[in-house]
Amino acid sequence: MTATVGVPRETFPGERRVALTPRACEALTKAKLEIVVEYSAGLEAGFTDEEYARRGVRLASRSEVFSSAGIIVQARAPGANPDHGRSDLALLRPGQILIGFGDPLTSLHENLELAEAGVSFFAMELVPRITRAQAMDALSSMASIAGYEAVLLAASALPKIFPMMMTAAGTITPAKVLILGAGVAGLQAIATARRLGAVVSAYDLRSAVKEQIESLGAKFVVLDLDTQGGEGQGGYAKAMDEAFYKRQRELLTVVLKEQDVVITTAAVPGRKAPILVTAEMAEAMAPGSVIVDIAAERGGNCELTRAGETVVHHGVTIIGPTNLPSSKPYHSSQMYATNVVNLLKLIVKDGAVSLNMEDEIIHESLVTYQGKVVQPRIVPLMEALGPRVARS
Ligand code: NAI
Repeated sequence: MTATVGVPRETFPGERRVALTPRACEALTKAKLEIVVEYSAGLEAGFTDEEYARRGVRLASRSEVFSSAGIIVQARAPGANPDHGRSDLALLRPGQILIGFGDPLTSLHENLELAEAGVSFFAMELVPRITRAQAMDALSSMASIAGYEAVLLAASALPKIFPMMMTAAGTITPAKVLILGAGVAGLQAIATARRLGAVVSAYDLRSAVKEQIESLGAKFVVLDLDTQGGEGQGGYAKAMDEAFYKRQRELLTVVLKEQDVVITTAAVPGRKAPILVTAEMAEAMAPGSVIVDIAAERGGNCELTRAGETVVHHGVTIIGPTNLPSSKPYHSSQMYATNVVNLLKLIVKDGAVSLNMEDEIIHESLVTYQGKVVQPRIVPLMEALGPRVARS
């Protein structure tokens, strides 16, 4: 039987993305899938119902989308939309497949609820960072947008301009920008800040990124620290001990003082973000300086960060954005949709769902299956919570 893919409108406050664009839907209809999209689901991202209809998509109400589709795709599944996503649990049914971001390493209650609903939930953030899965890696595509957008936020908040200017009214020196953490978001931030004409330096505890930083025209900051063992599974950073972070902060204080802008992106999957910038370090920066902390949602890399807010402390502006991809919903939806389409191609063969449980991508990203939490990294987390996991 031909599988139907349903796209509900996103309900998380401020979320403007849509999980499938009209063009992505067309690619799926060519792959023998039927698509049903909730009315107005794409509007905020710039995609009208008419565009979807022109690409062979059926438009329907939310409850019809859930009842007629075997596969539901969202940007934010319940774990990443804890308040508003809750009402969708009642619309989901056993055997249905759900694909989306769901914060599965921390949203344990929602994992359990999805398991109890009998839903097979694929968490986009768990798609492994392996070559074959690159086209499905939504964490990376969203981080690229976040890195770009973080620099624009910093540039708007800074009382200086980024580029050098030689004018009759004098020469303006370029802004100095430091990027902490040169993963996907950090590298995109470096490239964006360079395009705007700033003098950019970057630091990462993985020395392997030195070449990438330099190839983008930025300086690699070397700290006198033992970073051996800093790289964990799948190219992600490992958590280091507190003595390491303390020494790192001491050394970074000197570097930070010189900067107009600091963009922090240091993440360790499933953990609270490490503190790289203390209040004291921020206070040592010149008034007017800007810190954009894109790890805000995970507690932040700066001690002063408040998620979703802008704080001014001793004249230094600290911005803690939590949903940067949503501020560029057209392109983030386009990239996310491509990632989703590629995952769908892995789980749907000839128009019908066919899950190869031996496949590493499926094995790693499938959180719940046949009434249970099955993801190998999450199972022990659920067990550790014991009976307390059930919401009272
Ligand atoms: P990533 O894992 O590719 O990069 C993080 C980098 O930080 C790695 O290169 C890692 O080695 C480095 N790092 C970790 N600990 C460090 C330390 N103590 N000192 C120096 N470097 C350290 O992650 P990606 O994909 O670039 O994402 C970065 C962050 O952006 C994540 O926290 C992610 O959640 C966040 N993000 C935020 C968004 C927002 O709207 N605010 C949107 C998308 C991503």
